[in-house]
Amino acid sequence: MQYKNLGNTGLKVSVFCLGAMTFTEKGWRSAGTMSFSEIQKVVDYAIDMGVNFFDTADIYAFGESEELLAKALGSRKNDVIIATKVRGVMDENDPNARGLSRYHIFKSVDQSLKRLGRDYIDLYQVHWWDNHTPIEETTEALNDLVRIGKVRYIGISDFAGWQITKSVMLQEIKGYSKFVSAQMYYSLLGRDIEFEVIPACEDLGLGILVWSPLAGGFLTGKYTKDKPYPKDSRYSRMERPFLRFDFEKAYNLIEELKKVAKKYNATVSQVALNWVRQKSFVSSVIVGVRSLEQLKDNLGAVNFELSEEDIKYLDEITAPERPYPQWFLDMFADL
Ligand SMILES: NC(=O)c1ccc[n+]([C@@H]2O[C@H](COP(=O)([O-])OP(=O)(O)OC[C@H]3O[C@@H](n4cnc5c(N)ncnc54)[C@H](OP(=O)(O)O)[C@@H]3O)[C@@H](O)[C@H]2O)c1
Repeated sequence: MQYKNLGNTGLKVSVFCLGAMTFTEKGWRSAGTMSFSEIQKVVDYAIDMGVNFFDTADIYAFGESEELLAKALGSRKNDVIIATKVRGVMDENDPNARGLSRYHIFKSVDQSLKRLGRDYIDLYQVHWWDNHTPIEETTEALNDLVRIGKVRYIGISDFAGWQITKSVMLQEIKGYSKFVSAQMYYSLLGRDIEFEVIPACEDLGLGILVWSPLAGGFLTGKYTKDKPYPKDSRYSRMERPFLRFDFEKAYNLIEELKKVAKKYNATVSQVALNWVRQKSFVSSVIVGVRSLEQLKDNLGAVNFELSEEDIKYLDEITAPERPYPQWFLDMFADL
């Protein structure tokens, strides 16, 4: 396993992090279900392979994911890095059981700590921007959590570039603990963060933690153009696809990935994962699985690296059109 610093911090995280969104026997959204015995196997295998980083959230199956992750880690739970999140709706009937107010953050951190059975959280992430709470209130509350020792590092998830810049500049001016990471969707089928988010993170020293690197499983190659979706797969559980991409282009991309995979005697998933992992701004890639078999396939990506030539090829065939003002700025960058 390869380890990288989490953004500008001294904390070393494995380049593959295990995501726990699927850790639920009840089921949550389109994630599907997993038995506890399978979760146990997956967590054990991840640790055996050198994974030291686990990602969950309060809202994943309304706390069940945090509980099952802690249960599967058992006595090892204080020897690994656990990231969780706050922001989502935990109780539809309580207007304060959501968002990034000081009230909810303080309540939520205690609830997550209880479910995780720990005294502190290694990386506490705000799940997405809250339009109804001043960022001044959120950053002050998070700084206080770090000061009182309930949280070691703080990060964002699903922010726009300007929201990252505004938050971190505010933290800097106030002398608060700063966000160290940005958990964002990034894959060969979704490169939008390259325009605003990655430049902001590189400028401010935040490491990127990639979610849905396989576009929810599409980039495994298991979905084929003329056949129904495989039974009990994530896309078969969704009424409408959650991630936005052109399916026609996506099926063509899978054919290209198969050709690249053949060169390395690898799988389509491994090629798609390594394309993300090998980007310099990525600190860790969060893989999601529903079985040990899937995890074995995905972590097999550590056994090889894509050549610069293959990365360049995949960059080119998936390049999104640069929107304004990027194309304008590109044009005059050297003047
Ligand atoms: N911050 C956020 O807003 C946010 C959002 C989403 C996720 N996340 C985090 O990112 C993690 C990963 O996200 P994700 O689960 O969407 O990642 P993903 O890797 O894009 O998709 C994972 C899903 O693809 C299928 N799959 C994975 N490996 C496979 C393989 N080798 N062969 C066949 N199918 C395979 C499985 O679903 P099926 O077997 O059911 O088809 C699996 O649950 C989550 O656990 C969570 O921690 C964060």
